[in-house]
Amino acid sequence: MTLSASEVNQLKQAPAVEGVLPAVLARWSPRSFAGRDVSPADLRKVFEAARWAASSNNEQPWRFLVGIRNSSTHQKIFSSLVGFNQSWAGAAPVLILGVASSKFSHNGTDNRHALYDLGAASSYLTLQAAALGLASHQMAGYDQAAARQAFGIPEDYLLGAVIALGYQGEPSALGHEKLIAQEIAPRSRKPLSEFVFSAWGEPAILG
Ligand SMILES: Cc1cc2nc3c(=O)[nH]c(=O)nc-3n(C[C@H](O)[C@H](O)[C@H](O)COP(=O)(O)O)c2cc1C
Repeated sequence: MTLSASEVNQLKQAPAVEGVLPAVLARWSPRSFAGRDVSPADLRKVFEAARWAASSNNEQPWRFLVGIRNSSTHQKIFSSLVGFNQSWAGAAPVLILGVASSKFSHNGTDNRHALYDLGAASSYLTLQAAALGLASHQMAGYDQAAARQAFGIPEDYLLGAVIALGYQGEPSALGHEKLIAQEIAPRSRKPLSEFVFSAWGEPAILG
């Protein structure tokens, strides 16, 4: 006995807090992806959102390799995933590899915030996806050296996460009991008092 995709989607929504962006409340990371393709127009929109993220010195160090199902790019990204991620992520119609230039383009010095900025752009991407009714799931579980080699990514670029993008699928389609249990488990978060401080370790008083 499992839940349907729409029941799980309901369960995964963050509790509504007035004024918080709907896409923030709606985004979560499924592992079951439906067969439905992402339209080229929607794919463009998620990258447009990423494009407008802030970055240190407006360097925009992010680069995204985008692999659409049945392409060699999709296959290369999929091949780099660890076994656990391969067990579900291959169904996603789009696999994206996020990469960041580690040097400032104007003088070649180290950009210590390159991965920070890639993360920000990736967050915009996932929130835009949620706003479009798309599902996304970021992954650190892949072989960076293999991905670097497969795409010929230069040494001065840092690898971030792989992002699976598509439409949420039925939990039962995952097949394995453990994966299904994870898919239908409620989400949890630390309370604000554990990470918003007025002095180190002291919870800030918020409204
Ligand atoms: C940088 C990063 C790496 C992650 N790596 C993996 C991964 O390799 N495999 C996986 O199944 N989920 C991975 N996740 C998904 C997280 O487990 C998930 O975002 C977290 O449990 C919170 O759940 P939510 O996204 O549904 O809110 C990753 C997420 C992030 C942001």
